[in-house]
Amino acid sequence: MPDRFDLPAGFRWGVSTAAYQIEGAVDEDGRGPSVWDTFAARPGAVRDGHTGAVACDHYHRWPEDIELLRGLGVDGYRFSIAWPRIQPTGAGPANPAGLAFYDRLVDALLAAGITPLPTLFHWDLPQALEDTGGWLNRDTAHRFADYTAAVADRLGDRVPAWITLNEPFVHMVYGYALGIHAPGRTLMLDALPAAHHQLLAHGLAATLLDERGHDVLIANNLTPVWPASTDPADLAAAQAYDALHNRLFTDPLLLGRYPDLSDFGTGPDLHGTVRPGDLDLITATPLTGLGVNYYNPTRVGAPTDPALPFTLLDIPEAPAHTTFGWPVLPEGLHELLLHLRDIYPDTLPPITITENGCSTPEPTDDPTRITYLATHLDAVAAAITDGADVRGYYTWSLLDNYEWAEGYHQRFGLVHVDFGSRKRTPRASYAWYRDLIAAHRARCAR
Ligand code: FCB
Repeated sequence: MPDRFDLPAGFRWGVSTAAYQIEGAVDEDGRGPSVWDTFAARPGAVRDGHTGAVACDHYHRWPEDIELLRGLGVDGYRFSIAWPRIQPTGAGPANPAGLAFYDRLVDALLAAGITPLPTLFHWDLPQALEDTGGWLNRDTAHRFADYTAAVADRLGDRVPAWITLNEPFVHMVYGYALGIHAPGRTLMLDALPAAHHQLLAHGLAATLLDERGHDVLIANNLTPVWPASTDPADLAAAQAYDALHNRLFTDPLLLGRYPDLSDFGTGPDLHGTVRPGDLDLITATPLTGLGVNYYNPTRVGAPTDPALPFTLLDIPEAPAHTTFGWPVLPEGLHELLLHLRDIYPDTLPPITITENGCSTPEPTDDPTRITYLATHLDAVAAAITDGADVRGYYTWSLLDNYEWAEGYHQRFGLVHVDFGSRKRTPRASYAWYRDLIAAHRARCAR
């Protein structure tokens, strides 16, 4: 059984964060309101009413955070750019102070020997765009293209690769179908246009980035779907869920078509949302890499609610669950990586794990995190040995941060953050990851 030290030479190590989860400073330097500012202010929307108004105060403490990254010895840092800092209302000229913040960050990363890997959209849509329909409005895709051009023109001389979107599935389902995340809409299956408009935005942005000579990735939340049994009703439900969670996003990108969505009451044009030529646009610039955010497999059984063609079930026999309640099953990552290779044999680009990690209880249950990371990296090594092309691993996350609807309650950081003082304290997992990266490099250099 290969282990994490068998990962190939040149394998890239990193950590991931996202703007709204760490930056704070929501009213500074001309930043406009985002959907998350609005949602977090809604009574009852977020656990204990927590907001990202201060978060980790990264907007002011970023030099300290770069020192933490330097200390880890990572090759790359995945962070996101806050669209409302660049275009406070989601349209029009770029805000110089917003661009300047990321300009300084990129320079400092490069000076620390770290390659910046920005995500252009990690869920913090300018509120002004939500007011005109958000991702239900096709025009938002065009606004995203304008924003992408503004950012790429400023940072593109130093940033080689970009992630267009983070987890369009989670944003569609949590944000537009269930109302658990911003913008808090509860449209159920009427949320599907938010999938297509995000993919269209990806396609338009990818073309612009490609014209400027950049590598283009997207970070999808992908899950292996485990049917509850071999009963045909469970198998059919698992297939339906796989279409919604995974293939709704990877099929258009890698096959140029939507999967069969008849279980969701729609044909491949998503009730007229998909216009002629859209899929060509989405595939016009092939992905340089596929970002995979992996947390757990999903067990699915036959429907119990007439509104949905599946039921989501727990996996009680998993050897552990995280503080979030997510089952810990690293073999799911191995399975997912090989499955992607099998279903997209001709078009799957190299994979980068763009998120993987776990929340642990306060204050010190860090051995759990170390075991989680070690076993998932072993799964990546085994998948590579079995034929998957995986080029890098970015753990979620550098810092404890604002975990969306859970507020500050879920702690995913290699570094502990005290949300009173904002003091950062590296955990044992920080030293473990640092030593692993160094040992892997030393071994490859021999
Ligand atoms: C992912 C998100 C990321 C973080 C982790 C725990 O779905 O992309 O921002 O919240 O989950």
